Amino acid sequence: MKRTALVVGASGIGGSSIARELVANGWTVYGLARRPRSDIATVLPIAADLLDPAGLDAALAGVSPTHVFITSWMRRETEAENIRVNAAMVRNLLAALSSRKTLRHVALVTGLKHYLGPFEAYASSGTLPDTPLRESQPRLAVENFYYAQEDEVYAAADRDRFTWTIHRPHTVIGKAVGNAMNLGTTLAVYASICKETGRPFRFPGSEAQWKGLSDVTDARMLARQLLWAADTDAARNEAFNITNGDVFRWNWLWHKIAGWFGIEAAPFDGTIQPLEQIMANDGELWRDMAKRYGLAEADLDRLASPWHTDLDLGRPIEVMTDMAKSRKLGFSAYQATDESFFDLFGELRIERLIP
Ligand SMILES: NC(=O)c1ccc[n+]([C@@H]2O[C@H](COP(=O)([O-])OP(=O)(O)OC[C@H]3O[C@@H](n4cnc5c(N)ncnc54)[C@H](OP(=O)(O)O)[C@@H]3O)[C@@H](O)[C@H]2O)c1
Repeated sequence: MKRTALVVGASGIGGSSIARELVANGWTVYGLARRPRSDIATVLPIAADLLDPAGLDAALAGVSPTHVFITSWMRRETEAENIRVNAAMVRNLLAALSSRKTLRHVALVTGLKHYLGPFEAYASSGTLPDTPLRESQPRLAVENFYYAQEDEVYAAADRDRFTWTIHRPHTVIGKAVGNAMNLGTTLAVYASICKETGRPFRFPGSEAQWKGLSDVTDARMLARQLLWAADTDAARNEAFNITNGDVFRWNWLWHKIAGWFGIEAAPFDGTIQPLEQIMANDGELWRDMAKRYGLAEADLDRLASPWHTDLDLGRPIEVMTDMAKSRKLGFSAYQATDESFFDLFGELRIERLIP
């Protein structure tokens, strides 16, 4: 049966990878965003704001997806606002598609804040969750925009009789420009600046993160799991963690990253030194580097998101996920984490996003 995908947030770090995977597997793919950019020629762009129901209806006229992959999100100042806008985006989207009767499956991408709490209480207060994080762990007793998004999907699924899956990546490693959270590109830019200036390439996070076990999610792994779930009856109406399938310690990976850039990793003294402070005045320097090296993006803020890298690397506990649930159902993809970073760095260099 012919399958048509609507990837919502198709220009983002997760959405663009999903769109690429679906195209590679022969799907017809629409990509929705307010400014739908794609380097994949065959993705059919839909420009729409999910917070504008009338505009959304108009933009989706004539589009009848069988599968919807939701990766859009907006960051607001408080969790109450995050809940309001992000739930509305999912609600508006599924309401706009409700009359189609073509929708068979909706996949929603959320993340480990499901277990760690929202940004404003992010693994910092109260009881820290048991690790590895498991899908069977109950929701936290604190409001969270992921829960609100999930609840919108469940309500629409009951109403319109489609199946759903929820996908919870850890930090996503992949290529995106101008998106909200991109640890891989942030570290690539930071390492490039250290190489240029001789500044020490120092781990900015906590001792727990430096020494503890971690995992991450290659954007390609996220895409593979979404595609697998769309094709797997046993995966219906389930939530899944998704990570690379290996674990590492930052005190190992930091040296590997330094080696890729041909610089030394500075010793770590056990204290947090946020990248947001270290890179606060680097905008001008990056503009100069962009000119000198002929880079494609001179605006540091469109490449680096140090606030988010600091949150991830500054956590007071080691964080890794359990992948048994999808593995038992047959999802067997694996990705070596050092190669996730090296592949990204190589892509950034080829596209002249780093020197
Ligand atoms: N990035 C990570 O490391 C990471 C890690 C774990 C979990 N997650 C979670 O994964 C989910 C997806 O995040 P992501 O990082 O892939 O997102 P992202 O890279 O920031 O991309 C967000 C996408 O949503 C679109 N969008 C935002 N507001 C919109 C609106 N009002 N109407 C239509 N489109 C809109 C954006 O395009 P326009 O701006 O052009 O509209 C973009 O395509 C989020 O729940 C996030 O919390 C991310």
